Amino acid sequence: MTEERILIVDYGSQYTQLIARRIREAGVYSEIHPCTRPTEELAALEPDGVILSGGPCSVYDDYAPELDPELLRLTRDDGSPVPVLGICYGLQSMAHIAGGAVEGAERREFGRATLRIPNENRTDALLEGMPDGSTVWMSHGDHLTALPDGYTVLARTENAPIAAVRHTDRPHFGVQFHPEVVHTDYGAQLLENFALRICGCEGAWSPASFVETQVEALREQVGDQHVILGLSGGVDSSVAAALLHKAIGDQLHCIFVNNGLLRKGEWTQVQDTFRGHFNMDLRAVDATDRFLNALEGIDDPEEKRTRIGNTFIDVFTAETDALAEDLGTRPAFLAQGTLYPDVIESVSFKGPSVTIKTHHNVGGLPEELGFELLEPFRELFKDEVRAIGELLDVPSSIVNRHPFPGPGLAIRIMGEVTRERLATVRAADAIFIEELRAHDLYDAVWQALAVLLPVQTVGVMGDERTYEHVCALRAVTSVDGMTADWAHLPHDMLGHTANRIVNEVRGINRATYDITSKPPGTIEWE
Ligand code: XMP
Repeated sequence: MTEERILIVDYGSQYTQLIARRIREAGVYSEIHPCTRPTEELAALEPDGVILSGGPCSVYDDYAPELDPELLRLTRDDGSPVPVLGICYGLQSMAHIAGGAVEGAERREFGRATLRIPNENRTDALLEGMPDGSTVWMSHGDHLTALPDGYTVLARTENAPIAAVRHTDRPHFGVQFHPEVVHTDYGAQLLENFALRICGCEGAWSPASFVETQVEALREQVGDQHVILGLSGGVDSSVAAALLHKAIGDQLHCIFVNNGLLRKGEWTQVQDTFRGHFNMDLRAVDATDRFLNALEGIDDPEEKRTRIGNTFIDVFTAETDALAEDLGTRPAFLAQGTLYPDVIESVSFKGPSVTIKTHHNVGGLPEELGFELLEPFRELFKDEVRAIGELLDVPSSIVNRHPFPGPGLAIRIMGEVTRERLATVRAADAIFIEELRAHDLYDAVWQALAVLLPVQTVGVMGDERTYEHVCALRAVTSVDGMTADWAHLPHDMLGHTANRIVNEVRGINRATYDITSKPPGTIEWE
């Protein structure tokens, strides 16, 4: 595989991950590093290009992260300078250390602007293919009012006379707008120009090339040892199973635990797919009773999570021991579908201090289990894992399935979890999902769910008065689940779904639709 890589130095922008994704879409592998990482460490990664992200600070803040000038002097093997693109704060910090003037605008500029590119600049490597008058997305307080020596203006907007710049001798570029967001019409083109034309990358990185190299790497790493994997039926663990199976075949052993909290049909569907379709060694353990016993009398959400987590570890450990006995040897590796957003160290600026948060996968299995971890997707985004799933023939019903929380339906029953309530919420959920699919809306929402409330209301069915429970429906649009908007589903569709739920699901006589965004709400109700 190509060794090309572009580094993104994160100054705390909410869009940093999008920059990485756009660069990968251009076929170049990209990585995000916090702005506090020493330049020597970044240099050691031998980048083909560096992008400085936006960020929430002003370069004049006391605690503003500073750009190390050495980052602008990196060279490649052949002695040529490493190209740099500064975005918003990234541009301002480049200009600031080079003697340009950065000033606070009268008011923050937020939203769409029209980019004016003079004719003579339209063939500049950065802007090639971008017409004059396209829309760009602005989100900044400060802006550049005077260029540092050696720089020239490439484009402007009405409020930002310096909207895109380049250095006349060195491959240093900057934009005041955000090319990484979809509202910037030719943003993907601009980032591709940077990666391919300016950094000179070939752009051969793709999910397919990733599969090829990973299969080889996994074979080499695993050798003749055995690997276990906790299959949940979700996208990440399913695609990880498919990749490992391609690499090491029968040396992969999947453990699928029925915690009794799964969605309708999931228990059989996962078995049919992995045992039937892929012919994998799948150990399916129905531990419903154990989980439901552990949840008896519990209505606190965190206590539910703790008990579900502990029971899962017990069941998984016992099954691993049984597997080791059958194999006559203990598996050396535990595979997990950890994704890149779980491992990126993110920076956040809270007053004078910079916090670096290292995310750890909360896969639910403690380190003490004593396995070496295999995390083939540590460098990938969810979309990329989905693309790999499709390449590996994982059914679309799994690859494109909405996310589902580890504690399952237990956190969608407000109050104590009982078999009866599980049956009720599972049936309501299945109808909601069926209707989303029937109206061709399933893929348009990020996640949809039904929640069973402990509230009873009066209704009338036929000639009879009813006194049953309320079901809340929730559907959200989101990119990563960190923030979300309620999905503006058509009223007819919602009405039809509510009607079906009330008529077909025993125990529910009223349905409501949740129109809270995240924040301040969360996606799940518990
Ligand atoms: P919230 O409710 O925090 O959810 O907005 C964001 C995403 O995370 C999922 N979620 C969980 N996933 N264990 C999980 O594996 C959990 O305890 C858990 N709680 C929430 C939720 O379904 C949504 O996709």
